[in-house]
Amino acid sequence: MTDAGASLQWVPAASGIAREAGARLREFLAQGVETEYKGDVDLVTVADRTVEKLIRTRLAETFPSHGIYGEEGTREGLEREYRWYVDPLDGTTNFAHGIPHFSVSLGLEHRPAGLGADEDGTPVAGVVYDPMRDELFTGERGRGAWLNGKPIHVSTVPDLAESLVATGFPSRKRHSSPNIHFYHEFTLRSHGVRRYGSAALDLAYVACGRYEAFWEFHLNPWDTAAGFLLVEEAGGRITDFSGGRFRLDSREVLASNGHIHQELLGLFADMFAGRNLTPIPTPGEFAERRAARSS
Ligand code: IPD
Ligand code: CA
Ligand code: CA
Repeated sequence: MTDAGASLQWVPAASGIAREAGARLREFLAQGVETEYKGDVDLVTVADRTVEKLIRTRLAETFPSHGIYGEEGTREGLEREYRWYVDPLDGTTNFAHGIPHFSVSLGLEHRPAGLGADEDGTPVAGVVYDPMRDELFTGERGRGAWLNGKPIHVSTVPDLAESLVATGFPSRKRHSSPNIHFYHEFTLRSHGVRRYGSAALDLAYVACGRYEAFWEFHLNPWDTAAGFLLVEEAGGRITDFSGGRFRLDSREVLASNGHIHQELLGLFADMFAGRNLTPIPTPGEFAERRAARSS
């Protein structure tokens, strides 16, 4: 942590909790865990549940006046002024297949008195920890964002054509997601689209300038709360797909370095209106050309 880090309000303690949680995930990965299903392809393991319990205990000890909202079912003190959104293991599918790309995500929201249950407060702190690379992304509202204690900033790339971008696909309701069309269009217009499988890390990578942008349909607050803060504190922009205020339960996240945001919003508007789509051959058309070449 930097000198500035020493005076941060929530990040030092939350970082310790994320590191402890990450160490448990490393142990689980090394020993191997059985996979269960929450839906048709939505995976969960004993690691998700055990690590959420650990984080819940540590947060309650450290911040007894705060509420906690966790992916694996924790709902505590949701009427309180501060609320932690916890994803104990973001990237369960990678984890279950032994792929060392996943994270712990802890995002703190300030919810002043009088806020409706369906209204968003203000994200005030975020910690995303990649235990396999020992990369700790942290940020606090108005103070900045850091990677292992060094300040981070979004990239300065000015257009999509020079950008590397990222997305993800939901495991729930996957038959109703149009995202493959966006994947295709972004692939043709950028340096490429990565689909690494941890939304919290995707947002952290936008914050530190590795990606120029990230979008996804149907994420949950525990996926985005910490990354939202990181992107904003690193100088980026985060909205819904129409450029409206990003909300934790909006199920639309578009994060970028800011410079390419308008261009991305234009692309989303075009795509939703069916305009300017780049044609590619269907598998059938490709098969015809392939057959013609070999005859
Ligand atoms: C998932 C990851 C993935 C995203 C999925 C999420 P989980 O979270 O963030 O990158 O594409 O939509 O559900 O289930 O591994 O915590
Ligand atoms: Ca997640
Ligand atoms: Ca998870």
